[in-house]
Amino acid sequence: MDDLSSIKQSFLHELSLVQGIAGLDDIRVKYLGKKGVLTGKLKTLGALPPDERRSAGIVLNEMKVLMENELALRKQALKNRELEKKLASEALDITIPGNYTPPGRLHPLTQTMLDIIDIFSAMGFSVEEGPEVETDYYNFEALNIPREHPARDMQDTFYVSDDVVLRTHTSPVQIRAMQKRKPPFRIIAPGKVYRCDADISHTPMFHQIEGLMVGEDISFSHLKAVLEAFLHRFFSPDVPVRFRPSYFPFTEPSAEVDIGCIFCKGAGCRTCKTSGWIEILGAGMVNPRVFEMSGYDPQVYSGFAFGMGIERIAMLKYSIDDIRLFYENDIRFLRQF
Ligand code: PHE
Repeated sequence: MDDLSSIKQSFLHELSLVQGIAGLDDIRVKYLGKKGVLTGKLKTLGALPPDERRSAGIVLNEMKVLMENELALRKQALKNRELEKKLASEALDITIPGNYTPPGRLHPLTQTMLDIIDIFSAMGFSVEEGPEVETDYYNFEALNIPREHPARDMQDTFYVSDDVVLRTHTSPVQIRAMQKRKPPFRIIAPGKVYRCDADISHTPMFHQIEGLMVGEDISFSHLKAVLEAFLHRFFSPDVPVRFRPSYFPFTEPSAEVDIGCIFCKGAGCRTCKTSGWIEILGAGMVNPRVFEMSGYDPQVYSGFAFGMGIERIAMLKYSIDDIRLFYENDIRFLRQF
């Protein structure tokens, strides 16, 4: 029995030193394993006289239970410690400022486009889209611009082949819309267009927005009212608007629309080239020839169309003096909008 108490002492001592779960197992094997110290003692019981055997058996079994309990307790303690260590090492300091991702924003051209679409949507126009790689037929022919017609010179065209072009304006969407829809209807067609042109106010790719309204009693006064309403909403309610006679093969009569210079209020400055007026868009009544080519009876239907450059309008609205700024992706420029 003296023996037993020193076994217990060394067991508890070793247990207190063990630092990991793996070490616990070594101790279990050493004391309670098949060839363990305590197991060895239990095996000797059989050699004892019966009366001693009983009491020794009780003591040894109590010892066994004690060891098992101690092992379990220690195991739990070690597990807890490991968990605490893990939690401590993975701890999040929620007071550290996060990585700041600055919010993105819309490109000024996108914003301008959306603003324009909003205004026309409020007047009942729906958005129509068409291809940027367009056939000669839709881009020119069906808009009353035949081959060899001098009007082709108005737009320096990128030809993909003899019959395919990069659309030079959004007007081909007028034709596609007329083929798809039944009057009365009103659409706007925003999108990219391409012309072989590059300087401080021209880029080979730019954006336009087209408008088309067709019905049985559409007159020039509808055109005037819609465009005036738009320009007053977009620029300012008191900006003067004027219509100047002009020429487009697909509209007759045609007009160029100006607003009073928003920089000098009409007094004359560099932007308006001292005229007091700034040209904003082209417009007109749909040419009966265009209706005929798309199978619309010009005796029954009339309509108006207009088209404007988004870059130009954005440049005026935000006082931007070089069109190339839109495409350089200079964050200092884009951040201002
Ligand atoms: N498509 C013409 C251009 O790009 C603009 C326009 C559209 C004029 C519709 C009249 C009617 O210059």
